[in-house]
Amino acid sequence: MTTDLTTRTSLKHESLRPAIGSCILNSKAELLSGVLAGNIRNLLEERGVLVFKQINFTDDEQIAFTKTLGTYTTEKADGSASKITVNAKLNPDGAEYLKGSLYWHIDGTMNEVPILASLLSCKKPAPKGTGNTGFCNTYAAWEALPEARKAELDGVRAVHGVWPTVFYYEPEPDIAKLKGMMGVGENELPLVWKHSSGRKSLVLGCTTQRILGKTTMESALLIHELRAWATQEQFCYSHEWDEGDLVIWDNTGTMHRAEWYDPEGDRMMVRTKLQGEEPFA
Ligand code: OGA
Ligand code: MN
Repeated sequence: MTTDLTTRTSLKHESLRPAIGSCILNSKAELLSGVLAGNIRNLLEERGVLVFKQINFTDDEQIAFTKTLGTYTTEKADGSASKITVNAKLNPDGAEYLKGSLYWHIDGTMNEVPILASLLSCKKPAPKGTGNTGFCNTYAAWEALPEARKAELDGVRAVHGVWPTVFYYEPEPDIAKLKGMMGVGENELPLVWKHSSGRKSLVLGCTTQRILGKTTMESALLIHELRAWATQEQFCYSHEWDEGDLVIWDNTGTMHRAEWYDPEGDRMMVRTKLQGEEPFA
């Protein structure tokens, strides 16, 4: 990093939708230099989703860029990035688990400290009209609720699990599969996350199993009513991928989902993650 670059480079960006999403226009060299990292982090929290059109990072560049923004984390023993596809032939280890990624969710609701952000890049897009990634701003969705509704929801807690996601794509699952998913356990989380910044966001998604202290019907109604609220058009951005695009989402203030794509097709994405810095609270 040179002083010249530091003083000459500023973050260039344009809004995509009023409540969510900005496109970053800086060059690959500027991004990899790290000089914009602080500004990118601030804009990510403000806008929820940042798009880098056809930045064409290699996997090593994507990892290096991720490391400029915070602490890189990976589930791979060799430290590599993850392949993302539900095609079992292309992704024998991860395809099953990723079937839940087609429904609105937050990554890492099984952990006390969820990942801060994910960076997803497109190696091979699905045919146009399929395989977009949808995002919604859960800060904006919370803020837009009527004050009386906010007062009712504050303090409410929900139980999350991986196992409830199975029923979204497989209504009559094999018991061994269900037990495997249940082995991951459950996690009780607040419905309204009070961030250390003072801002609040909704914690929802297909991992939400039930609301504490409510009947089964009341619970399901609240979970789905709030999901429908948070994913209204004004809080959403749907990214149509071109090869080489990179998108970062603030996993603490958004939900996301893959939109339908052919599970036997060749859509292929690469994901890197930033370690969480703030527990659900
Ligand atoms: C993920 C995810 C969505 C997609 O990688 O966590 O949800 O569009 N991906 O592939
Ligand atoms: Mn995800």
